[in-house]
Amino acid sequence: MKLFIDTANVAEITEAASWGILDGVTTNPSLVAREGRSYHELVAEICRIVPGPVSAEVLATDAEGMEREGRELAGIAENVVVKLPITQDGIRVCARFSEEGIATNLTLCFSPAQALLVAKAGATYVSPFVGRIDDVGQDGMQLVREIVQIYDAYEFPTQVLVASVRHPQHVVEGALAGADVATVPFKVLQLLFHHPLTDIGLQRFISDFREAKDVH
Ligand code: E4P
Repeated sequence: MKLFIDTANVAEITEAASWGILDGVTTNPSLVAREGRSYHELVAEICRIVPGPVSAEVLATDAEGMEREGRELAGIAENVVVKLPITQDGIRVCARFSEEGIATNLTLCFSPAQALLVAKAGATYVSPFVGRIDDVGQDGMQLVREIVQIYDAYEFPTQVLVASVRHPQHVVEGALAGADVATVPFKVLQLLFHHPLTDIGLQRFISDFREAKDVH
């Protein structure tokens, strides 16, 4: 399973990249807005830090605008993945980009029917938003399971990217469901490292060694 970081913050991306476990980055307009910088310059800098896929989202909602913006974003660096919303226009542009070999991430997926259309359009990634589904009292991970089942049955190459991750269990359940990628906020990536028994065990190993009189 690949791990992406879900942020547009360069300091967070640089830190996570230094851990040696980071495969890519996802951004969205809300995350980019927090950084208060030129959008294209920010995407270019992120693409230099992380050689893996970097999703950058279009802001237009009509096909012509999405296509123009998508081409501009794809021109920033070879590892840019154009993020498009799952609408009729978004799917239309996705199908066009797929024919040309432009990588795409279809975002705001909330149903298996949407995911089926995304795969038919030849997208590189589909992003089911598990946290936002949980927020309205439904089971976000069930959507991931259903998408994986459909894609496996028809051998669709579109990769399932678990998005809107809120806690480590979302990452683990996504892995168990057979998702290809989880995109994880920085704070949740940090939580993945921690277990209280690791901390206690480490302290005990070190104190046992230091207290021993005849060991150097
Ligand atoms: C990633 O591609 C999504 O934009 C992101 O995971 C959404 O997360 P949120 O629901 O926490 O905003």
